[in-house]
Amino acid sequence: MKDVALLNQIVRSLLAGQLKAAADPHRPRWHLAAPVGLLNDPNGFIEHDGRYHLFYQWNPLGCEHRNKGWGHVTSTDLLHWQHEPVALLPTETYESHGCYSGSAVSDEQGRLTLIYTGNVKYPDGSRTAYQCLARADGEGGFAKLGPVLDLPAGYSGHVRDPKVWHDGGQWLMVLGARTLDDKGEVLLYRGDTLDAWTLVGPIAGSGRGGLGDFGYMWECPDLFPLADRHVLISCPQGIAPRGEDYRNLYQCGWLAGSFDGMHFVHGAFHELDSGFEFYAPQTTQDSQGRRLLFGWLGLPEENEMSQPTIPYGWLHQMSCPRELFWQGDWLCQRPVAELAALKGEQTRFEGTLGEFPGLAIDSAWLDLALCGEGSLWFGAVAELCWQPGRLVLRRLNWQSGAWEERCCPWQGGGITVLCDRSSLECFVDGGRHTLSARYFPGPGPQLAPGKPVAGGKICLDHWPLAACLVQ
Ligand code: FRU
Repeated sequence: MKDVALLNQIVRSLLAGQLKAAADPHRPRWHLAAPVGLLNDPNGFIEHDGRYHLFYQWNPLGCEHRNKGWGHVTSTDLLHWQHEPVALLPTETYESHGCYSGSAVSDEQGRLTLIYTGNVKYPDGSRTAYQCLARADGEGGFAKLGPVLDLPAGYSGHVRDPKVWHDGGQWLMVLGARTLDDKGEVLLYRGDTLDAWTLVGPIAGSGRGGLGDFGYMWECPDLFPLADRHVLISCPQGIAPRGEDYRNLYQCGWLAGSFDGMHFVHGAFHELDSGFEFYAPQTTQDSQGRRLLFGWLGLPEENEMSQPTIPYGWLHQMSCPRELFWQGDWLCQRPVAELAALKGEQTRFEGTLGEFPGLAIDSAWLDLALCGEGSLWFGAVAELCWQPGRLVLRRLNWQSGAWEERCCPWQGGGITVLCDRSSLECFVDGGRHTLSARYFPGPGPQLAPGKPVAGGKICLDHWPLAACLVQ
């Protein structure tokens, strides 16, 4: 009965809201966004039986961080997605305050199985968390199997976001955690089956592996092999800005090292994206052997609740699908090759900035070769500036009305910028760094030259990108 009441509300929310959301001029044309309501973390990213499955944290009833369940879309090409039945809704007492983030695996019998966090909040402000299972029911939905893991001793109620994989005949899981004395950690578990887990111990975190004080909570860990090394991606909270690093409220970064099934020996922490909005990414290895990643082009609790899409009844979008690879010992990202299929007719401009007439950039792929110093404006509310050794992305903060900037090193190599109405994703030096951001330009956003600076030459290849909405 509880389920029916919730479903009725969701149907009403979709009936009343979908046209309004679709009419928003800031709505992406080729990125994933929720039909109505709030979308946050990518969940359960997997290729299973020849289809890519992507789940997402979804509040179908509004733009606040409440009522979290899992939406579900599938695709064969990572571009054209089809809606599937809603995978999880918070209907049980062990998930009363949300079916939080988690992952998907093909179980021993090849059945698609979800492992997620049942989040429970109490009236006194405390909370607990259960790691829970749900299995494909053969009709496009998922049957809940209930909790398989409680909180470990010595940890707060903030233990969540299971990422599970199979290796060497056993299941392994990493969990994000906050200790009772407010240290962020990643916990490793192992299990012979998906419903019986043993704690191995913390494998990384604040005060560990040479990191020093490194935040009170680590969310959304993901540990995976890439070529001859392992990578741990995770989202530490509670790190103060240091110079040009850690400028966002919460961080998202990577550690590279070696993992022997018990211990992870790693090097320094590096931010995965140098822009404004990028958080809680999740990876999977597909049948071509590629390590693919989706991130959330959002950040919790900073200025999300004043985004101008909220009056249209929707909030946030995913990143484009990206592929991870190494350049030496540096983790790099590029848009997946499939994206090229959305490209329309190519145009090229080559010359000084002063000669650049500008260009419509509603949804576009731009390849930039830049010389000297200069800048390009994106719809008058964001500016990409290049200087020897450094790229800066400035934007108008929609909440404070102030200009703010993020930057990354630049070796003078090519830059790809993917634009989709209200998002920018810059891949710098062939993907060594990325700068991702939401921005909210006026109607018909134009790419325009900044103030001409001596030597500010550009070669710009432009392709419009076709819409590929969810069916
Ligand atoms: C990260 C996060 C996760 C949690 C989910 C809830 O953005 O806070 O730790 O599982 O969002 O929606």
